Amino acid sequence: MTLDIEQIRADTPGCINRIHFHNSGSSLMPKAVYDATVDHLQLELNIGGYEAAAQSAERIDQFYSATARMLGCAQSEVAYMENATAAFNSVFYGFARKLGVGDRILTANAEYASNFIAYLHVASITGCEIDVIPNDANGQIDCEALETMIDERVKLISITHVPTNCGLVNPAAAVGEVASRHGIPYLLDACQSAGQMPLDVATLKVDAMTVTGRKYLRGPRGTGFLYIRESAMDHFPPASLDLHGARWVELDRFEMSAGASRHENFENNVAGQIGLGVAIDYALALGLDNIYQRIQYLADRLRQRLGFIDGITLADQGIEKCGIVAFAHRQIEPAVFRARLGAMGINVGTSNARSTLLDMRSRGIESVVRCAVHYFNTEEEIDRLMESIKSVISNK
Ligand SMILES: Cc1ncc(COP(=O)(O)O)c(C=O)c1O
Repeated sequence: MTLDIEQIRADTPGCINRIHFHNSGSSLMPKAVYDATVDHLQLELNIGGYEAAAQSAERIDQFYSATARMLGCAQSEVAYMENATAAFNSVFYGFARKLGVGDRILTANAEYASNFIAYLHVASITGCEIDVIPNDANGQIDCEALETMIDERVKLISITHVPTNCGLVNPAAAVGEVASRHGIPYLLDACQSAGQMPLDVATLKVDAMTVTGRKYLRGPRGTGFLYIRESAMDHFPPASLDLHGARWVELDRFEMSAGASRHENFENNVAGQIGLGVAIDYALALGLDNIYQRIQYLADRLRQRLGFIDGITLADQGIEKCGIVAFAHRQIEPAVFRARLGAMGINVGTSNARSTLLDMRSRGIESVVRCAVHYFNTEEEIDRLMESIKSVISNK
């Protein structure tokens, strides 16, 4: 199936006034996602929050069924969270209670700052060690090196699939293969990959995975989810519990809720949850294979064109590259590109070293421009972006 780009753009009001390449920051919602979110808020306005949730039970449930279909998992393995960091913290800090002196966490060079800060934090409390899996010559996780790092002290492999700062796609399934062969719990940050490529949990062999709603999934802000494999549920208890995650059954006893819902809070953004379910269904209707094919086609086109511009260095690593196109210019700061392109109606992002310190330090990069293409972008928009970039450079 080829994507009907005209229809998709008609479904996306944000395409009318802006050229949006800031999809790795926060993408444009389809109108249907906005409508579903606002409709629920309207219902809350009219009949009350709890009453609205009761009336929307099926639409809330649709979030779980859509997510389960996308991941190839059971609905009970999905928890709705307010963002990827909340999902990560719940699962990681819950797990980390078991860590002690000398235990090892293996992670990746392109790890996201919040995750790495959590490792450092836990290491400072428990005395565990953090070991970084080296990259291979292509700049992606070296799975042969990973294999040689495994010993009985490795208690967790926790990596980022697609980093926040470039188009690298780490070989998450190959890492999962190593983890499962050695029986080591495997946590994957799929925040930037969800919504731009298929994410089948059986293929990836992940035990837990964290995702945000607002990026490539095109959901509302302040939404996300957590996946935990049923067989890994006890490995990854929640960092904290409330009366939704557990039941107070006797004065001195509680029972955790079944499945991944033990990681959820009683209070959450129901309108956002419904909107995220619609966003996931929208992606599923288009097909994640189709989506990824189009994203890679557009991103390759942009990379090729950028490669011809004197003074620009592309910053994307790895064999497989996705929609995030990152570059730096010899003389012009990324923030200047962002501001000047923004003034021309083109949204791009920037990513600085602090978000991925290991990777950026090892490559001597302070900051990059992030032009993250989505399937609703067009060839013409890429041409406009290129003309605008050239004009920023010639008017520096
Ligand atoms: C790779 C990666 N992981 C995690 C996050 C955090 O996601 P959230 O802001 O939804 O907590 C981001 C956000 O940019 C990210 O790029």
